[in-house]
Amino acid sequence: TASNIVNIVEVGPRDGLQNEKGVIPVSVKAELVTRLGRAGVQTIEAGSFVSPKWVPQMAGTAEVLTQMERLPGVHYPVLVPNQRGLDGVTSLLATQPTDSTAPPFTDEISIFTAATDAFTRANLNTTIADSLTRLEPVTRGALDQGLRVRGYVSVVIACPYTGQVDYVRVREVAKALVDMGCYEVSLGDTVGMGTPAQIAEMLEEVKKDVDVSLLAGHFHDTYGTAVANVLTALSHGVRTIDTSVGGLGGCPYSPGATGNVATEDVLYALQNSEYKVAGNVNGTIDLQKMVDIGWWISEQLGRESVSRAGRAMRAR
Ligand code: HMG
Ligand code: MG
Repeated sequence: TASNIVNIVEVGPRDGLQNEKGVIPVSVKAELVTRLGRAGVQTIEAGSFVSPKWVPQMAGTAEVLTQMERLPGVHYPVLVPNQRGLDGVTSLLATQPTDSTAPPFTDEISIFTAATDAFTRANLNTTIADSLTRLEPVTRGALDQGLRVRGYVSVVIACPYTGQVDYVRVREVAKALVDMGCYEVSLGDTVGMGTPAQIAEMLEEVKKDVDVSLLAGHFHDTYGTAVANVLTALSHGVRTIDTSVGGLGGCPYSPGATGNVATEDVLYALQNSEYKVAGNVNGTIDLQKMVDIGWWISEQLGRESVSRAGRAMRAR
């Protein structure tokens, strides 16, 4: 039987901020990562090395990595779409003094593709097959440098361009990413339309080819099913969940989709359960600190936290 330890991958600084219209100062992005680390989060996706023409909000990720507080043992993955992105990471790592005792700027990249050609075209300007061909040497190059590589499959339930997705395609792409060298594959309901029954069916299909210990769930909350989908994924053996503080987020290439499931909502829902969330504050992640961070970053963006637990637990 699977362990009852649940790992949270906080994607707020990347998925959460990539869709914002206004310019967010590097200092705010760096402070967000710092605060999340202090709240006990063990994996924080810090940004992306993607084309600033495609996603302007992620420009400056190298500066974010150098400015933010880096805690020993905490992972700060960054999204990389191609060789150019990996080269950016490699150059940054080369600027770190070799005698430094500080943790590295990052020790992990995330690569990403999708379960439909239409979405892959919108997000990476290529096909699924070609994206895999291009990502293979990127993955090898990263592994050769001692970086961990995480893979994403987007649109695992529905595609904004082609509708219902064939879960066999999800299985094949997830398997290809594992075979390439990814230590984990995150399955993205990018559109946020999935229901628990669909998540269960999709996971059982993927599990035919990929061990469930290598899978993570990444659920956007457009239709309000994301917490239910998290619980469903856990009951099907998944033990890593991507979440976003304050419920921030959305993909620029998935029109109308809202943010990821809020970290606060998942932490709240798992209280008093058979599961224990791993973290660095008293062995877990501090829920009240996350609520405060959700409000802080939302106010930086000129709005209120959309986390339901965050709204209920707001410090007054
Ligand atoms: P392209 O236009 O086919 O490629 O885009 P290109 O080689 O012609 O490059 C276009 C320009 O970008 C060029 O600049 C390149 O130099 C530059 P120019 O010569 O015109 O001045 N460029 C770069 N600059 C910085 N870093 C780079 C880089 N690469 C090229 N790495 C490309 C292809 C892959 C670049 C583009 O499609 C891209 O950047 N896509 C990323 C899209 C993205 O970040 N999407 C959001 C993240 S994925 C997501 O949110 C889903 C997820 O959350 C899971 C889920 O919810 O499903 C993970
Ligand atoms: Mg996403």
